[in-house]
Amino acid sequence: MTNVIIVAIDGPAGAGKSTVAKTLAKKLGFLHIDTGAMYRSVTLAALRQKADLKNDLELEKIARESKIELKPGEPENMVFLNGEDVSKEIRTPEVTRASAHIANSVPVRKILVARQQQMGRNDSATYGGAVLEGRDIGTDVFPDAQYKFYLDASVETRAERRLRDLERAGTASTLEKVMAEVKARDERDMNRAVGGLRKTSESIVMDHSDLTVDQSAEELFQYIRQNPR
Ligand code: DC
Repeated sequence: MTNVIIVAIDGPAGAGKSTVAKTLAKKLGFLHIDTGAMYRSVTLAALRQKADLKNDLELEKIARESKIELKPGEPENMVFLNGEDVSKEIRTPEVTRASAHIANSVPVRKILVARQQQMGRNDSATYGGAVLEGRDIGTDVFPDAQYKFYLDASVETRAERRLRDLERAGTASTLEKVMAEVKARDERDMNRAVGGLRKTSESIVMDHSDLTVDQSAEELFQYIRQNPR
């Protein structure tokens, strides 16, 4: 890894990683890589092909054949699967639920991690660095990242954010139900055999339950400015 700065942002679902990573990348002028969008894209491809979500061989083939492109956009980045804009479709509750199977597949993880390393090392060269967000960035994708942030927020805060997102999308739910879902996702993310969400001894842990996205991105930005590596 010559001359590129890698900023890893890991943390549980709903901690605000995506928006914070996007804002931070903009402040730094770096490439933003949303690795969750890659797992979601493979999930969408698998659902469309009616694949057996527990069959690693099928999933591996689908992952290999899925050309995934992440393009910067406003207000949201865009995600293309084999040339098709799937930015919205990869965020449906169905894809969210099924993505847990895809995230569990060791061969799929191997393929996606290799692509993320390639994007982080090579595609980011013209930007000077990359901000990668996910679950296993600081542990598996870039264990030698210069900055490893672990962005946390309370279950209540994350559930409230999720509920607001659902309401905006026109889906009714209750805080209790969403809290139970958030806890179940944490359980799956943290207890996955490979690529599970873990803090490392180098993780810079931040709980931003009480901050806005802009404030949170500013905290990370200031940390990087004050701790050149
Ligand atoms: O962050 P997200 O909700 O968009 O992630 C989608 C799915 O992919 C979710 O099941 C967690 C998983 N994931 C993963 O296993 N490793 C990553 N680096 C990023 C996401």
